[in-house]
Amino acid sequence: MQDWLEGRIAIITGASAGIGEAIARDFVHRGARVVINARREARLAEIAQSLGADRVATVAGDACEDEVIDRLFRAASDKFEDEADLVVVNAGRGLNGSVTTSDTGQWEEMIRTNLLAAAKLMRAASHRLLADIEQSGNSWQQQARDIVVLGSTVGRHISPFSSMYGSTKFAVNSLAEALRRELGPKGVRVSLIEPGFVRSEFQGVAGYADDWFAQVVDRIGPVLTPEDCAEIISFIVSRPPQVHLSDALIRPTRQDYP
Ligand SMILES: NC(=O)c1ccc[n+]([C@@H]2O[C@H](COP(=O)([O-])OP(=O)(O)OC[C@H]3O[C@@H](n4cnc5c(N)ncnc54)[C@H](OP(=O)(O)O)[C@@H]3O)[C@@H](O)[C@H]2O)c1
Repeated sequence: MQDWLEGRIAIITGASAGIGEAIARDFVHRGARVVINARREARLAEIAQSLGADRVATVAGDACEDEVIDRLFRAASDKFEDEADLVVVNAGRGLNGSVTTSDTGQWEEMIRTNLLAAAKLMRAASHRLLADIEQSGNSWQQQARDIVVLGSTVGRHISPFSSMYGSTKFAVNSLAEALRRELGPKGVRVSLIEPGFVRSEFQGVAGYADDWFAQVVDRIGPVLTPEDCAEIISFIVSRPPQVHLSDALIRPTRQDYP
């Protein structure tokens, strides 16, 4: 049976840690080539070295910068001499607390990363993938093309303990479904992945108290690993081009809510 992931060229933002790094590793192990992005250049270089420099290109920088987004696509064609056909919109960050309790000093950066950067990349990826389909004689059935967007369970079910973060993921949820309706008929799959609790650098960046998170793990754990999410994403993008698993809500089995 054909593995539709083998030989593909993927762009992954937020790939210096957590879910993005796990996706990059899984894609490469399954025969894809990847362009990985994050702000920590040294970390990207380590990952590239461990995966094999011939299969990985790195683009360090803020995923919200237009110039960085341009470089992602250029890196794919420069390094692999072909266009990227798979874009994972993953860079993002959490924020502990609600409208009334979260740190307002972090609101702008979170909205910028989770919503603005995501929308910019979804737009750039859409234009590129559609142009590629047109140039290759509408060959969407011969070659799968994907945009994968990281939402969250709190972007589908309202959670009072992280409502500012959740609002950015509700926004991304609506953008992904709107884009799916726009691009699906033209042969591009847009998939929304909504994980529950995943242990990564996310908890530290979001500012979750260690004892609070330990209680969560006691109550609903074991929580997911980044690799659990990567495996599902690889499954989705390795379906034949005419098959689209467009939404995946992934929870630790014992997570009742959100
Ligand atoms: N962990 C969870 O429980 C969970 C649940 C649901 C959804 N998610 C979503 O899944 C995605 C990945 O989360 P994660 O758990 O893997 O978090 P993580 O371990 O903190 O990784 C986040 C990644 O994003 C990068 N990043 C952050 N801001 C960036 C920016 N402005 N430009 C470029 N890269 C940036 C970080 O690298 P640098 O610091 O090097 O830039 C890092 O590589 C996020 O969208 C998150 O909202 C996570």
